[in-house]
Amino acid sequence: MLKIENLVKKYGNFTAVDNLNLELEKGDIYGFVGPNGAGKTTTMRIAATLLEATSGTVLVDGINVAEQPVRVRGRIGYMPDFFGVYDNLKVDEYMDFYGSCYGLSKAERVKRTEELLELVDLKDKKQEYVDTLSRGMKQRLCLARSLIHNPEFLILDEPASGMDPRARIEMKGILKTLKEMQKTILISSHILHELAELCNYIGIIERGKLVYSGEIQDIMRRITGRTILEIRLLGQVDRAVSLLREQPLVEDISGEDNVIEVSFSGNDQEMAELLRLLINHEVPVMTFAREEGSLEEVFMEVTKNFEQ
Ligand SMILES: Nc1ncnc2c1ncn2[C@@H]1O[C@H](COP(=O)(O)OP(=O)(O)O)[C@@H](O)[C@H]1O
Ligand SMILES: [Mg+2]
Repeated sequence: MLKIENLVKKYGNFTAVDNLNLELEKGDIYGFVGPNGAGKTTTMRIAATLLEATSGTVLVDGINVAEQPVRVRGRIGYMPDFFGVYDNLKVDEYMDFYGSCYGLSKAERVKRTEELLELVDLKDKKQEYVDTLSRGMKQRLCLARSLIHNPEFLILDEPASGMDPRARIEMKGILKTLKEMQKTILISSHILHELAELCNYIGIIERGKLVYSGEIQDIMRRITGRTILEIRLLGQVDRAVSLLREQPLVEDISGEDNVIEVSFSGNDQEMAELLRLLINHEVPVMTFAREEGSLEEVFMEVTKNFEQ
């Protein structure tokens, strides 16, 4: 559905997107997470044909966004991270306006407007002026507008940003409905846990680089429960490895020479027991410690910035 290859975007000398690769299959809900300024909006605007890449390729349904932007626009719904100013425009007129931008007939526009205002729970606001709506309502309206031509693929740039908790919950409900409608969605946020229950894939972007991309269960497990231990021995490495292999909390073992790296899912107490086990079996342990600078640390570092 979406394929981004070696995407680079420079603003002058500043590299906002740095050789980014990303792929979404049909039906995926991909959470694009990173602190402010990481390059999410830039990437999404390029995929939505609104910004030119410095280099690299973006394909939507196999169509190159730079070469055939109009064809791509017909297939995607893009929700920007800002809501413009619409003087003297009512909610239904706003929807009608965007419907005509996509060449829908009057009858189609009326029908879609009804359906979509129902979806985003703004039916009773049809005759209200857009500028008088609350921020949450504007964001829902913006989402409805991005769906006017019934696209399969949605690019949603921080749809829940700046909302109060109640409005966030409402937005989440709408996004779940879109998921049930089997839309493919690329959705950004600077808060990881906001996307966790919605998405099946997560990509973490930092300073223009995708530092992690994978299945949501995988990343949650890494963030919540796993530790990398570094065990330095004086000898008896084979004996230590075979002992460690038997332990249920040991998930993975690697390393070279006298240093063993263990992926461990236990708590501190269990970690102490693991050390005791080695010593009781007369394995000469020199140091036994959590590894510094591991992937896990990158996650901790990135997620720290997500706290508002
Ligand atoms: N038009 C622009 N000119 C110069 N720098 C820009 C422009 N747009 C964005 N940037 C910079 O690019 C970086 C990425 O921005 P952006 O894609 O908006 O990040 P995010 O959406 O993750 O917050 C930021 O450092 C931002 O200041
Ligand atoms: Mg942004």
